[in-house]
Amino acid sequence: MVKRPQLVLPTVVYPDVLGLLTIDHRKVQVLFAEFQAKRGRLRIHEKFELVRKVCAELLVHFAVEEGIFYPAVRQQIHDGALMDEAWDQHDSAKSLIILLGKIPPDEPMFDAKVRALAEQVEHHIQDEEAVMFPKVLVSDIDLVVLGRELLEAKNGMRARLGMPIEEIADEHFPGEDTYMSSSHARHAAARMREI
Ligand SMILES: [Fe+2]
Repeated sequence: MVKRPQLVLPTVVYPDVLGLLTIDHRKVQVLFAEFQAKRGRLRIHEKFELVRKVCAELLVHFAVEEGIFYPAVRQQIHDGALMDEAWDQHDSAKSLIILLGKIPPDEPMFDAKVRALAEQVEHHIQDEEAVMFPKVLVSDIDLVVLGRELLEAKNGMRARLGMPIEEIADEHFPGEDTYMSSSHARHAAARMREI
């Protein structure tokens, strides 16, 4: 019998900057999937609450990327086009979020715009995880130090917005960069060096 290849996902949480941003990505993907799966059955206020939650998560995510992550990346990887594209994607997503705030959630246009936002965010996630993050991984950026800075800024913003604080305790930050020591990361780094 032919054995099918299996997709092996890393099971370790990497609480460095790339790990933290990846956790954000998964969080919003889950919320969008929940919206898609339940939207026919949700009451209007439940639908609104779900979309409000995903938009708040996205705005915090974009803010820390723009304020902390992107400036560090721009300085190190010298790829202006990639960074400009990332900013454009943020602007498009933020425009959709502003638009959503003006559409009553019981209108069909509301669902259409949520789906457009989900697609836009999926592009953002693919571009970062497939292109930007591997470049960051082989750069001189200290992923753990930047991760701490990012987490502090996120928690400050989340507190101001009345969102729960993300509890990743100090002791969970690795002494050394465990992301680099994972086979997944080593493979990504090796591929980047070949380019
Ligand atoms: Fe991101």
